[in-house]
Amino acid sequence: MMSFIFFAFLVLPFTYTNSVFAFPPLPSFPPIPSFTNPWEGFQNLSGCHPGDNVPGISDLKQYLHDFGYISNPPPANFTNSFDDELEAAIKTYQKNFKLNVTGFLDPSTINQMTLPRCGMPDIINGTSTMASSLHGRKLYTYFTGNPRWPSSKSQLTYAFTSTSSVSISTSTLSTVISRAFSRWAATTTLTFTEVGSDSDPDITIGFYSGDHGDGEPFDGVLGTLAHAFSPTDGRFHLDAAEQWVAEGDVTTASSDAAIDLESVAVHEIGHLLGLGHTSVESAIMYPTIKTKTKKVELAEDDVVGIQNLYGKNPNYTGVAPATTVQQRDTSDAGLGLGLGFGSLFWRVLVVGGVVGGLVLG
Ligand SMILES: *[C@@H]1O[C@H](CO)[C@@H](O)[C@H](O)[C@H]1NC(C)=O
Ligand SMILES: *[C@@H]1O[C@H](CO)[C@@H](O)[C@H](O)[C@H]1NC(C)=O
Ligand SMILES: *[C@@H]1O[C@H](CO)[C@@H](O)[C@H](O)[C@H]1NC(C)=O
Ligand SMILES: *[C@@H]1O[C@H](CO)[C@@H](O)[C@H](O)[C@H]1NC(C)=O
Ligand SMILES: *[C@@H]1O[C@H](CO)[C@@H](O)[C@H](O)[C@H]1NC(C)=O
Ligand SMILES: [Zn+2]
Ligand SMILES: [Zn+2]
Repeated sequence: MMSFIFFAFLVLPFTYTNSVFAFPPLPSFPPIPSFTNPWEGFQNLSGCHPGDNVPGISDLKQYLHDFGYISNPPPANFTNSFDDELEAAIKTYQKNFKLNVTGFLDPSTINQMTLPRCGMPDIINGTSTMASSLHGRKLYTYFTGNPRWPSSKSQLTYAFTSTSSVSISTSTLSTVISRAFSRWAATTTLTFTEVGSDSDPDITIGFYSGDHGDGEPFDGVLGTLAHAFSPTDGRFHLDAAEQWVAEGDVTTASSDAAIDLESVAVHEIGHLLGLGHTSVESAIMYPTIKTKTKKVELAEDDVVGIQNLYGKNPNYTGVAPATTVQQRDTSDAGLGLGLGFGSLFWRVLVVGGVVGGLVLG
């Protein structure tokens, strides 16, 4: 039973509004990319109510199906009819995201749905992993069946298997990934050692472009970023097309699509070890991250989650406050709007595999 997670990053549309007469354009910015949020079409459904029949409803149903809100697959394709099943799904969605439970596609709901997000379903086998448990303290999650590496495998090895498609040097890559593993090693008694790819490593790490044979193709710059499999699969794939920042200060990277490699790696390693997503925004296992942002410190939620799976490292002294550094970020309210110069806003999301799922810890 394999669970499959991946990150996807999406970028909201933004506009370039500086005047060439008033200010010279900043030379360090790359050409403006035209990233498209694939869910932007949902904005057309804003205001739709039960009983409506509108083109695009079928796509929204597919979306809600993908995330667990509509359990049964359609007999053929979903219809464009705003039926009872859709209304119920929307209400559950609204509860999970702490929106007003209106049962129709009000603007707040549409905006939330349009946000890039994790593809891991919010509802597994009828059990929501989200808002219903938010009052509880333990928000970290595991995969169905709580898969973990067995105690005989506390000294894990990893190897890079496909790095030729990125320009990051081997030594830099080793350093960054080693730092990412060390975050998890510090809290548990697990150890992680890089080995050669011919040494039967427990964990394999590689960069891939597009369709790379596991049914979850990467999608170029931003969009899908990385994915990793739950224990004891060990595969960790990164989208070779991303503008990975492995060295230096990601917050001052020249590209607005810059992604901090270490931050993504810390998150994906959480999946490799058995953690699912959490609703704790400060946690590493939160599904989204922004461009030009470094977020590498485990939060208490991450630490408690991993220690409940693998035990505590007696040397671990506590949880540092989660720190997130970012620049030129805008608020969530920018969704679907043209944003100001340089105000690229996006989120990372983790997409869940289909066979596995989250269970509450
Ligand atoms: C949304 O509506 C606009 C304007 O009517 C239309 O041009 C666009 O194609 C629609 N998008 C989708 C995804 O239906
Ligand atoms: C389902 O939708 C797809 C894409 O819109 C279309 O190609 C296919 O023919 C549809 N299938 C049925 C059974 O309507
Ligand atoms: C929920 O409804 C209240 C009262 O109508 C409104 O003030 C608030 O803005 C709504 N919240 C959202 C997220 O739509
Ligand atoms: C879903 O729930 C039913 C009823 O509790 C249970 O029998 C079944 O094994 C569950 N399926 C999965 C995949 O957890
Ligand atoms: C704790 O620290 C001591 C001293 O540095 C070290 O020898 C030991 O291996 C550490 N224990 C773990 C579980 O990391
Ligand atoms: Zn893959
Ligand atoms: Zn994830």
